[in-house]
Amino acid sequence: MDVLDAIKKRVAVRYFEEKPVPEEVLKTLAWAAHKAPTGGNTPYRRVMVINDEETVEMVKKVSPGFLSNAKTLMLIYTDLDIAYKGLGRLGRDICSIIDAGAAAENVALAALNFGLGTCFTKSYSEAGVKEILDIPENYRTEVMLQIGYPRKDMPPPLKAKPNARITYLNKHGQLWM
Ligand SMILES: Cc1cc2nc3c(=O)[nH]c(=O)nc-3n(C[C@H](O)[C@H](O)[C@H](O)COP(=O)(O)O)c2cc1C
Repeated sequence: MDVLDAIKKRVAVRYFEEKPVPEEVLKTLAWAAHKAPTGGNTPYRRVMVINDEETVEMVKKVSPGFLSNAKTLMLIYTDLDIAYKGLGRLGRDICSIIDAGAAAENVALAALNFGLGTCFTKSYSEAGVKEILDIPENYRTEVMLQIGYPRKDMPPPLKAKPNARITYLNKHGQLWM
């Protein structure tokens, strides 16, 4: 799929078919996540695929923003010690978060290639998710993706709000598009 087509097509999907996502496809999506840039080339990013039914249900219970019936999740998280050792506070507090967003968008776009839809998810209990998934103290979860095959009869995606796409040229205030 052409990258611009994928960007155009990506929307938050919250209605999925029951069909499971093959593990080979999930491995490609994990690869896409790791292909995103990292600040200072510091190896702090971790990716976890969650497709065990019981575990997904437990995560859902601590995640108000997990609104769909997705059976697969992908979590992008950070080893804070490695981030701090590599880049100090810039790595731990800023770059790792920016890069998790880049990784998540890579996954969202790559998913379209397989007919899959995704939904970024941040509304969840950090403590709850870490406990369910056995994630140690020195890690921070960044973003989770709900993943699945979109239902054909899902409601239409939200439209961008007015003034959501303001772009300036050369100087702040010099409206370009
Ligand atoms: C950082 C971030 C966190 C988000 N968290 C949630 C969430 O917890 N639950 C949810 O249903 N959608 C979540 N979304 C999806 C947004 O609601 C969605 O992207 C936005 O409404 C725009 O719609 P679109 O993605 O279809 O363009 C999140 C998106 C981002 C970027």
